Amino acid sequence: MNTKRLSESMEKALSDQMNKEIHAAHVFLSYGIWADDRGYQGIAKFLFRHAQEERNHSIKFMEYVLNRGGKPKVEAIPAPPEDPESLSACFDGVFRHEVDNTTAIYSIVDKSMEEKDWATWNFLQWFVKEQVEEETLAQDLIDKLKIAGGDRATDESLFTLDKALEQAPDEAPLAQDATADNP
Ligand code: FEO
Repeated sequence: MNTKRLSESMEKALSDQMNKEIHAAHVFLSYGIWADDRGYQGIAKFLFRHAQEERNHSIKFMEYVLNRGGKPKVEAIPAPPEDPESLSACFDGVFRHEVDNTTAIYSIVDKSMEEKDWATWNFLQWFVKEQVEEETLAQDLIDKLKIAGGDRATDESLFTLDKALEQAPDEAPLAQDATADNP
């Protein structure tokens, strides 16, 4: 008896997203290696933690497809992009990568609505929320560097930024949780 509860094309879309999340981990790993090599060990740690989050995302897609009777397929992972030329290029790259991932998730959400696959729609809502957090975190990186002086920041302000990112929280607060006392 066929117990698969996903369409063939939905199984493929979710499996592709599992691979895309592993690719995101590769991208952030490579950016982290670049940052560490440049002496920014705090920024590197932030990026390494983020790479681990992407691996976690990949596992969620894997587990969901398996739970729904499908079988995800691990594909070859494309090489990460070239090393960034500056910290601002690195942070811009992180932001662009998150937006690209959000677009991919939205397209599977669209597909789940077309198919009336409400279980998958529901599963994906976690990722819709997660992407808001991740885009916010990436925007914060860009803002913090801008305040530090951008690509013309002094060594001293970059030292402070690097230290701050070493221990920066990995979750950005959601607007839904804001209150008048704690905006
Ligand atoms: Fe798994 Fe950063 O999206």
